[in-house]
Amino acid sequence: MGATRSPVEPSRPSIAISLAEPERSELDAALTAAGYNTIQLQPGESIVEAFSASTPTLIAVVDVAGDPAAAAARVEEARRGRAGHLSVMFLAGDAELDGLEAAGLVDVDEIWRVEAMAIRAQVPTEHSSDAVLSGGNVDSTWTPAAPVFAVFNPKGGVGKTTIATNLAAVLQIRKRLNVLLLDADTVTGHVAMSLGLPNGRSAADSWIDEDAGYTHESLLDLATVHSSGIRVVALSSNPLSHPTLKPDRVTDAISEARHAVDAIIVDMHPSYSDVNLGIFAIADRIIVPVTPDLPAMRAAIQLKEVAVEVGVRDRLAMIINRANSGVTVADMESTVGLPAVAHIRSAGLHFVWSANAGMTLIDKFPRHQATQDFEHLANRLVASYSGEPAPQRSTSSLLRNLFGRKAIVEA
Ligand SMILES: Nc1ncnc2c1ncn2[C@@H]1O[C@H](COP(=O)(O)OP(=O)(O)OP(=O)(O)O)[C@@H](O)[C@H]1O
Ligand SMILES: [Mg+2]
Repeated sequence: MGATRSPVEPSRPSIAISLAEPERSELDAALTAAGYNTIQLQPGESIVEAFSASTPTLIAVVDVAGDPAAAAARVEEARRGRAGHLSVMFLAGDAELDGLEAAGLVDVDEIWRVEAMAIRAQVPTEHSSDAVLSGGNVDSTWTPAAPVFAVFNPKGGVGKTTIATNLAAVLQIRKRLNVLLLDADTVTGHVAMSLGLPNGRSAADSWIDEDAGYTHESLLDLATVHSSGIRVVALSSNPLSHPTLKPDRVTDAISEARHAVDAIIVDMHPSYSDVNLGIFAIADRIIVPVTPDLPAMRAAIQLKEVAVEVGVRDRLAMIINRANSGVTVADMESTVGLPAVAHIRSAGLHFVWSANAGMTLIDKFPRHQATQDFEHLANRLVASYSGEPAPQRSTSSLLRNLFGRKAIVEA
């Protein structure tokens, strides 16, 4: 059967796809949308068919489909006598790896390079049930890394804790994500209290025990579950800075948790401590609440300068809090020099009433306008993190299909 070609001009490398349906069409649609020239091959069809005068160099995606020797033979046949270059990505199950290695075509070490690339690319996920881990026989490190949203402004009282807590709630309740809310305000943190939760064991408590020879506990092991489903854990319950609170230990713990939940929100202390700089370094977004007053705006301008210095300027996302209190959004954007990704209006005593009930605004007042503001903020963050929303076919389902088997690159 002849190869079919898509009409897209080859502005990028041509990719021949030798997969069974429906994966072939799914991958073809995704690659075509990304601007690649694709060539669809039936499973087992000769790759030689895909070469032409206009595509001397080719990338092929080849399903090993239970027969490594046949897959290897097809690649060898395609390469024989060709001036052009053929790079191949094999999709193989565990049992097929040995056959590919025996054929001398793949270096099994390459698998780990691909895995590292996939993790670094932070495959987006919409829900933990979408995690590649649920695809079957895959290492836990294949789980997509959850985004880390740090909430910070060096000025006190601008709404960091309010925004961290309610953003966590809206992601958990309305976006159905499993959310870890980390109270990293080691001085005046009160996230658990505001949610009516007992002060559980903190990370610092656990690390003291770990250093004394007890087993390691992850942030998830330590977290208390709120009635909304949010998991809540504090870095420290001791306001005096703790010797175990080293930046590396904090960032390692957060990185470990990224493979166990769908999103991590970090409520930060208003200072430029080493721990905070460490959190900046691993955060995907640094959410900066700014209230419409000069001290809060000045603090945000200062933060912008610090962020340039530490190389995280592009992660800053300003949120105007108590937005309906005089100064316009446009004036604040031009004064601070950051675009506002969302605004949260003043909700008066509703936050206090929510806290008195051990709840967030989102579960206590689901129809309040400020709750809608949080939903809008969550939509913006989810969209900006996972890229273009794909209404017809989610990117994560396509990746899961591919990653349900191992992908091995051989160039
Ligand atoms: N949009 C809002 N509407 C009404 N009240 C708000 C709003 N945002 C914050 N508040 C209130 O302002 C006070 C300070 O907010 P919050 O504790 O969240 O600030 P913070 O930046 O975390 O402070 P700190 O720097 O001390 O940690 C709280 O009483 C909170 O309920
Ligand atoms: Mg706070």
